[in-house]
Amino acid sequence: MSVGIDEISFYTSNYFLDLKTLAQVQGTDPDKYYTGIGQEKMGMAAPDEDVVTMAANAALPLVEGNGRDQVSTLMFATETGIDQSKAAGIYVHRLLGLRDNCRVVEMKQACYSATAALQMACALVARKPDSKVLVIASDIARYDLDTPGEATQGCGAVAMMISANPRLVSIDPEVGNYTEDVMDFWRPNYRSTALVDGKYSTKIYLKALKKAWDHFREVSPLDFSDFSHFCYHLPFSRMAQKAHQQLVRHTKAGLSAEEQERQINKTLMYNRTIGNSYTASMYIGLTSLLENTDADLSGKRIGFFSYGSGCVGEFFSGTVVPGYRDALHLQRHRDMLAARQEISHDEYLQLYRNQIPDDGGEHRFDEGTTGHFRLAGISHHKREYVPR
Ligand code: HMG
Repeated sequence: MSVGIDEISFYTSNYFLDLKTLAQVQGTDPDKYYTGIGQEKMGMAAPDEDVVTMAANAALPLVEGNGRDQVSTLMFATETGIDQSKAAGIYVHRLLGLRDNCRVVEMKQACYSATAALQMACALVARKPDSKVLVIASDIARYDLDTPGEATQGCGAVAMMISANPRLVSIDPEVGNYTEDVMDFWRPNYRSTALVDGKYSTKIYLKALKKAWDHFREVSPLDFSDFSHFCYHLPFSRMAQKAHQQLVRHTKAGLSAEEQERQINKTLMYNRTIGNSYTASMYIGLTSLLENTDADLSGKRIGFFSYGSGCVGEFFSGTVVPGYRDALHLQRHRDMLAARQEISHDEYLQLYRNQIPDDGGEHRFDEGTTGHFRLAGISHHKREYVPR
């Protein structure tokens, strides 16, 4: 029996800022963004959108397809938490109409926590093969204005149904891990934007990749040549290119630049126009690979490197299941991305400054999202989520 990802669906906001616009206002060469960091657009959440609405929007097509009654556990990964106590997934549980004996929990370790959720979900399914676990990762990446991180913002959510004998990707049990206590990127409770030591964070990411790979080689019989494609955590797409170049050097794989690029380029397509979605980003990258590769990927092995600042890195592997194309949501994803609305720099600043307030007051929010669920307001310290 194999265990892994049976279905995958993502959601991002209907608003985006083109990084050419940002570059123009800043007096920066747009190529710094388009080529230097490899990003073209960044998603901006609507005024009535948060990690809960994005998560429910990502997951709705999966529970409609699979039946609400089959989900035994919902794991919600985020680093944009809305409450120190209550799990954001409980709101999603209600919005999706899941059964009341479904377990719900929220997980955190920066961008890595979706992978922790995926691995734990696989373990639960292995123990009880007739169960399905819904893993959702949802985040809004926010940095201070006029900082190097500003161009790497974004937002998105991904939902994955984990099951026995999955239709998309089976996940192998061997994993390579690396953990180190570092301050490369963090967000203390009193801040709505992350603090980041940008250049250092990229160095630590690369170090964690090397260490996680070395550990993976100790526990798994697989070597570099067993993989046809690689999915990396995607804070910006150039990071994955640097990571892959480093792994090729480290493993002495001796691949040409074209071959290296072929192993990762289709994973980058969606993220280039969405931006960093923290926990969701690597899995949106996987969706991009499965949906945009013309060649049949059936039976091909994928290497995954998940990274969460602070830091935890994990290298693991999965194999694409024959017939996977029948389980994709390709057209819906492409339609959603094509229907997004470009915003001006002034509108971007307005959305940036009008983030959901945490002042404990009474609030109603203007309708902005085109998703199925929205945050209507906050009253008596309670968020009010409604269908649209
Ligand atoms: P920066 O200092 O503005 O950029 O910040 P730079 O000056 O280093 O330029 C970036 C690249 O553009 C360079 O290429 C330049 O040469 C090139 P490189 O040397 O790196 O190959 N460049 C140009 N290329 C073409 N035409 C031009 C041009 N000008 C320059 N005209 C930085 C870059 C990534 C540091 C910044 O965006 C940042 O701080 N981002 C946020 C932190 C981040 O994303 N870190 C990534 C690793 S940590 C991680 O992935 C975890 C995270 O997702 C959080 C979590 O785990 O929760 C962030």
